[in-house]
Amino acid sequence: MSGVAPLRLAVLISGNGSNLQAIIDAIAAGTLNATIVCVVSNNPDAYGLERAQQANIPTHVLNHRNYKQREDYDAALQSLLEPFQPHLIILAGFMRILSPGFVATYAGRILNIHPSLLPKYPGLNTHEQVLANGDKEHGCTVHLVTADLDQGPIIKQARLTVLTSDTLESLKQRVHSLEHTLYPQAIQQFSDQLITK
Ligand code: GRF
Repeated sequence: MSGVAPLRLAVLISGNGSNLQAIIDAIAAGTLNATIVCVVSNNPDAYGLERAQQANIPTHVLNHRNYKQREDYDAALQSLLEPFQPHLIILAGFMRILSPGFVATYAGRILNIHPSLLPKYPGLNTHEQVLANGDKEHGCTVHLVTADLDQGPIIKQARLTVLTSDTLESLKQRVHSLEHTLYPQAIQQFSDQLITK
């Protein structure tokens, strides 16, 4: 690993947090030169909060149910994140659309992972669509977040061949495992590009 200061990551989650775990593990293994400065969940019951606590990472719950307007929630999120001075905002299963104002504040510094080979299948139920359309190939994408859902510039993708034996569940699991390798690699790659720019 180079002598470059670790990238400061704020990770936003809503649920299980297996991608968060993969990032925590990659940092511990020394393959990702970063530090997670905080984990924020909109869901108080997200299991990812426990994963963060186990790794001694500060956690915050910002429950969207307490906010009427998306803009108000995002303003609160911005205030929460500011003191942590994150270089990058990492969306790891964060099931909320971010308002254009929030995206503009962190323009070019928000990454998301999506379970499809974008630009194919933005939005939900990607695995169902792959099976229904008889696609031979599937995968996942890490991309920059812009104001348009799942449309930002692609950083890195990982792909797999859909097997005739694949079920919804098997496909979901196989893509999920790909994500766990892809996301830390994509963050490191993105960080290297930022530094050499
Ligand atoms: C992943 O499938 C990711 O592609 C999508 O949300 C899911 C999050 O899973 N954006 P986890 O919470 O990281 O386990």
